Amino acid sequence: MSSIQEQESKYIINTYGRNPGETPLFVKGEGSYLWDEKGRKYLDMVGGLAVNVLGHCPPQLVEAIQEQSARLIHCSNLYYTEPQVELARLLVENSFPGKTFFCNSGAEANEAAIKLARKYSRLYSEGKGHEIITAENSFHGRTMATITATGQPKYHEGFDPMLPGFKYAPFNDLEAFSSLVGEKTCAIMIEPLQGEGGIHPGTQEFIEGLRELCDKNNLLLIFDEVQCGMGRTGKLFAWEIYGVKPDIMTLAKGLGGGVPIGAMVAREEFARGFNPGDHASTFGGNPLACAAALAVIETLLDQGFLEKVEELSSYFREKLEELKEKHSIVKEVRGKGFMLAMEVEGDGKEILKYCYGEGLVINVIGGKVLRFLPPLNISREELDCSLEILDRVLSMFA
Ligand SMILES: Cc1ncc(COP(=O)(O)O)c(C=O)c1O
Repeated sequence: MSSIQEQESKYIINTYGRNPGETPLFVKGEGSYLWDEKGRKYLDMVGGLAVNVLGHCPPQLVEAIQEQSARLIHCSNLYYTEPQVELARLLVENSFPGKTFFCNSGAEANEAAIKLARKYSRLYSEGKGHEIITAENSFHGRTMATITATGQPKYHEGFDPMLPGFKYAPFNDLEAFSSLVGEKTCAIMIEPLQGEGGIHPGTQEFIEGLRELCDKNNLLLIFDEVQCGMGRTGKLFAWEIYGVKPDIMTLAKGLGGGVPIGAMVAREEFARGFNPGDHASTFGGNPLACAAALAVIETLLDQGFLEKVEELSSYFREKLEELKEKHSIVKEVRGKGFMLAMEVEGDGKEILKYCYGEGLVINVIGGKVLRFLPPLNISREELDCSLEILDRVLSMFA
């Protein structure tokens, strides 16, 4: 019998660049920890890339999945189901008056937002606007429309032609966004806190300015909260930090705590852009996924949960800043809440390898940015443990 690594390279298309001998093979998770096939324990500071907001296999999520799977896993969106409506109610009541469309991923949620912005514009803005302005360095997904929306040429290479109707401006440059608005523009779409682009928070002035720009020109403001939403920043949604509400927000990743689900929440006025038949998803919002997401959101809304995220993430950030002072290889610490990055000089992938060796799972973006997206309920002791390991590993690169 060949190893899983050999079988993987035989049967799985190589899109993730896993490396035998380097990339762990995980077989179990509990709380903030993962175990590999040899029984080695790792502290997980990646959290499934911002998905495992309550850690691995949290009891309330396991229970919700077990209970719902014994009752009704899936029927169809032809019919009413309770968990879907209840989840939509909680999302709307905790954001802004609006309506929800459910799908299965972040890219799908953004596809829905792009389609809705265009359709709304066709129906209610004299039919002219279809252009969407997005930010350079952004990331919105891997479908054709969402790679087009993604303002990073490396994701376009080899896949042209891109979808017509997208323009790009530098992130945090309000004037540049303003200068691209024309009579064909229907929406502006950004991540309030850029994730895959290297963890870059929007400035207060920029986010507020975009709201004003959209209001002045009758444009929809779309916030992609796929990575920064669901409590990641210490607020349920990242836009709460800025006090700026979007017209559409998209969610996925943390929403189901590990069960695939995406959502688009649109303000009431814009939601009417979609009519029966305009958009759909076979699996979107099925009872199993929604029961999981309900368990997640109910926990995030529990008294004190998000306050604790704010408190512990500030503590962790302070300690990362201390590591920056101590290790000259660290150039910058940035981010918000538990969406933090440490930019290093040198090969981040080497640091990652040593961290694996010490039982710490971190992520590296673009070779130089160490990214931390721990479970939101990680403890202070676990954070301290991760900091000790990081300190030791960074010392090796002095
Ligand atoms: C901000 C943002 N939007 C969209 C996506 C795409 O999400 P998915 O991989 O679930 O399609 C991602 C994934 O990393 C993301 O970070």
